[in-house]
Amino acid sequence: MQRLQSYLDSHGIANWPHIKTHKIPAIAQMQIAAGAAGITCQKIGEVEIMAQAGLRNIFLPYNIIGEAKLNRLMELAQQIEISVTADSAFVVDGLAQAAQQHQVTMPVLVEFDTGLARCGVQTPQQAADLAYRIDRQSNLVFDGLMTYPLNERTDSFVQQTRAILEKDRVSVRRVSVGGTPQMWQAHEHPVVTEYRAGMYIYGDRYTLKSGAMKLEEVAFSVITTVVSRPTPDRGILDGGSKTFSSDLVGLDGYGLILEYPQARIYSFSEEHGHFDFSDCLEKPEIGERLTVIPNHCCSVTNLFNEIVAVRDGVVETIWPVAARGAVQ
Ligand SMILES: Cc1ncc(COP(=O)(O)O)c(C=O)c1O
Repeated sequence: MQRLQSYLDSHGIANWPHIKTHKIPAIAQMQIAAGAAGITCQKIGEVEIMAQAGLRNIFLPYNIIGEAKLNRLMELAQQIEISVTADSAFVVDGLAQAAQQHQVTMPVLVEFDTGLARCGVQTPQQAADLAYRIDRQSNLVFDGLMTYPLNERTDSFVQQTRAILEKDRVSVRRVSVGGTPQMWQAHEHPVVTEYRAGMYIYGDRYTLKSGAMKLEEVAFSVITTVVSRPTPDRGILDGGSKTFSSDLVGLDGYGLILEYPQARIYSFSEEHGHFDFSDCLEKPEIGERLTVIPNHCCSVTNLFNEIVAVRDGVVETIWPVAARGAVQ
């Protein structure tokens, strides 16, 4: 937490950590205390829980659609500082109407696509057109540009959009980008004004593979027990897809067993993890407890009621995962 904060501070980039990874208000408060400008949430349900816990500056980079969700968003905007994104006229018009009804002024960033092929406008001209549309609404403010993930296409997209908008004196105040694998490269992108990293708070097997964190920095693991060893080379853990999710995120196997790094978790039933240890010199025994670093900490967090915080082998605190399942 402190290392990323210091790095971003030293480059004048505002830190907006993504709390979808931990979903725990106490950790969000620690991120703010360490110097974050605000937090990022992915769903309105998360924002509601964080706002209730006292978080006051929240970025929601999501297209909010439909009367029920727009009402919840505007009610939040009456209590806290909140900004959102849009990538279509449909979303902008919905936001404009709801903001007017609730007499709220809502900052809106335009999301652009840098290659993920998820949400986001496709060209700088489309980004500029949407910015103009936002600016024309009495209760919306065009606040800048947002993308995920940060990559080599980001800067030129922002520069080209800016060039169009500047002719009409519309300024791009915020350029918000994100992604843990790319976080240490943020300073190589002069257009970036703020950063959203999520996984950095814990780390996982995917983060290790990306090179953004080292094994000794990874804080997240699931302690499992070997409940069966039906053959000399195959064992069963008491955690399956309901513990680890089925996220492969492009990796081979489903997790790293610290005590047996050569072992391979090759498949899951709901409550059973199937692992092969034919490449291990020592073989795990029934009853052994194994520490597994999952592939993707964000999905695993959402499957557990609590996170146990341990320092030097001693339990310091147990955090309820307050925004667990808050996906609506
Ligand atoms: C919009 C957005 N911002 C930021 C992030 C954080 O990225 P990471 O999980 O790599 O830290 C994500 C992750 O999915 C995201 O979807």
